[in-house]
Order: sequence, then C-alpha cells, then structure tokens
Amino acid sequence: MKFEKKAVIFDLDGVICFTDRYHYLAWKALADRLGIYFDEKINNRLRGVSRMASLEIILERADREYSEEEKIAFATEKNDLYRDLLKNMSPSDLTDEVKDTLNELRRRGYLLTIGSSSKNTKFILERIGLRDFFDAIADGTDITNSKPDPEVFLKSAAKVGVDPADCAVVEDAKAGIQAAKAGGMTALALHGDAENCGEEDYNLVDFADLLNIL
Ligand code: BG6
Ligand code: MG
Repeated sequence: MKFEKKAVIFDLDGVICFTDRYHYLAWKALADRLGIYFDEKINNRLRGVSRMASLEIILERADREYSEEEKIAFATEKNDLYRDLLKNMSPSDLTDEVKDTLNELRRRGYLLTIGSSSKNTKFILERIGLRDFFDAIADGTDITNSKPDPEVFLKSAAKVGVDPADCAVVEDAKAGIQAAKAGGMTALALHGDAENCGEEDYNLVDFADLLNIL
C-alpha cells in the first residue's frame, strides 16, 4: 500500500521518543502517594490525552472527591516529577531508526511536522536535539481541545499550508488516530493503543516502515 501525501505529522510522546514511559512513571508516583490504583492498562488511556484530562482518568479510581485547587496541585506535582525525568534525556535518546527515517522522508520531499498534546513538546525536542528539525510544531500550548479533537493536527497542517487530505499522521494513541480521522487525514498507527484500534488506515510494523508506504 502507498499513501501519496505532502506532509507527515508526528505525535511526539511514544512516536518520536519514549517519553510515554516517563509519563507513566510520574503518574504512578502520584497515584501511589494518593493511594489510588494505577497500572499500564489505565496508562494506555492517557495516551494523547491532555494533562488535566489524564488526571481525571486517574481519579476515577479515587475513593473521594478532590477540589479544583487540589487537582491543579496534583497536575503540577506530576509535571514536576515528569520534567525531572526528562532532564535525563539527551540526543542519545533519539534512535538511529527515527533519525534516519526522518532524514530520508525529508530527502523524499515531505514536509515534517509535530502535532502533540504536550505542553513540554519544545523542551523534549530540545533535549533530543530536534528543536529546529521540524517544519512546524503544534503542541499543547497552541490548542484548547486535545485529541481526539483534531485541533492540534489541523493547526500543524495549517502552519505548513498543507490541505488536511494531503497529510498523514503517525500516532501511538487511539485518541490520536480518532483526531487524525476527524481532521480528514490519513491515520498511521504505531504501537500503543493506536495499533489495531479499528479506526486506523494502516498499522506500521515499526517507525522505519514509513519508508515502505510513503
Ligand atoms: C501527550 C501524552 O503527548 O501529552 C499524554 O500522550 C500527556 O499522555 C499529554 O498527558 C500532555 O502532556 P504534558 O507534557 O503537557 O503534561
Ligand atoms: Mg503519543
């Protein structure tokens, strides 16, 4: 199968780099402190979902209600833990597979952009040496509605002036696959809960598989 596209929009966490692991560890530390059950299965539901919406999913298992102020403090606590973990990242956390695939896609003439719900996007790209690589970045600081709403992908496409129908999206989140489809884009699933979620256009075997279909 071949997809004729002009731009490829990449999710960040769990696609370009494995920060999805750090998200899990930071949420797990918070949940443990609060005595709330949390596991990898629940964590899968947080993929692509905004920070506050993620917290609401975790608090579904709490045995009491929390005020808005408490929730904001919890989200801040998690983000501080998460950013401490991110400080361990360096350009060596960018795999050769991802780096080589991105370079080859660019050589083939694709515009390459980021569409991430994360407000830490630019910090992470800086850590892994990709701060200036992409043709455009749309992230959690640009949007009011997070995935499965298509806003972040539509913003990313608009920043490079490409029609949504000419964009392919690479996602590890089911919410991200839904967002891509809602935006009229081609949805390519890579692992996570995106894989075989039933709404994807194609399941990537691995990141480099992009070179077989684009
Ligand atoms: C997404 C992650 O990329 O960003 C979610 O998949 C996360 O798990 C969301 O909740 C928001 O991230 P941040 O860095 O703004 O807390
Ligand atoms: Mg992701």
